[in-house]
Amino acid sequence: MSKTLTLANIAVAKGKTPLVCLTAYTTPVARLVDPHCDIVLVGDSVGMVLHGLPSTLGVTLEMMILHGKAVRRGLERALMVVDMPFGSYEEGPEQAFCNAARVMAETGCAAVKLEGGEVMAETIQFLASRGVPVMAHVGLTPQAVNSFGGYRVQGKGEDADRVMRDALAVAEAGAFALVLEKVPETLARRITEEITIPTIGIGASPACDGQILVVDDMLGLFGDFRPKFVKRYTELAQAAETAIAAYARDVRERRFPGIEHVFGHTTKDIERGDQT
Ligand code: KIV
Repeated sequence: MSKTLTLANIAVAKGKTPLVCLTAYTTPVARLVDPHCDIVLVGDSVGMVLHGLPSTLGVTLEMMILHGKAVRRGLERALMVVDMPFGSYEEGPEQAFCNAARVMAETGCAAVKLEGGEVMAETIQFLASRGVPVMAHVGLTPQAVNSFGGYRVQGKGEDADRVMRDALAVAEAGAFALVLEKVPETLARRITEEITIPTIGIGASPACDGQILVVDDMLGLFGDFRPKFVKRYTELAQAAETAIAAYARDVRERRFPGIEHVFGHTTKDIERGDQT
């Protein structure tokens, strides 16, 4: 049985070994990604990816806990992080602690992730100093889609200073790692050089200390969603579509089930006494 990675393992990777991170929302996918990943994130992207929601805003604490428990059952090696959903931590440090402690206790995750920079620094400090390790997330923070007016790159031109300040604030507050989402490459590179905690890029830079993708995106399972920052390593939706169409044809043409799929007709079944 392999040893579960700790926050110390993640910290020492800074500037050395690139950290491999993916999302997972279910036990079977957690089992698939675990041997290959350093961090597995139960992202609130689950709302869009598995539940068909239009954004992450409708994701609840109960959904995160349910998927967190499922992922926990599939992990042995990777450090598990669970996203705090919109509305579960922004009121202040006490609300954040109460909900994060529940997430940790009920899912068995090692840390939580929350979105926001300077404005969340006090909360991150409160949590981190009370036994709740925090992964921070700045740049494009999808829970702020309505404030941003879309899913645009953040930190272009003069706006770079704002994202840099956010990164410095969360690192200073005690976050153990920082997700940088959809920021200009040069800015992600500068932030990675400036802060002492590992940066995990998504649409950011190869210079980040690690990379994360939504697993369904890189497996080609999520329909026509093809943002620039996603590399599709396979096309599982296409393969599944072909298989489902073949099944439908077989059923309509009475080619499935075959004699090998039914009971009581084969010598082997009769020998096994399997007559059901
Ligand atoms: O919810 C999520 O999946 C995320 C990652 C894409 C970073 O926040």
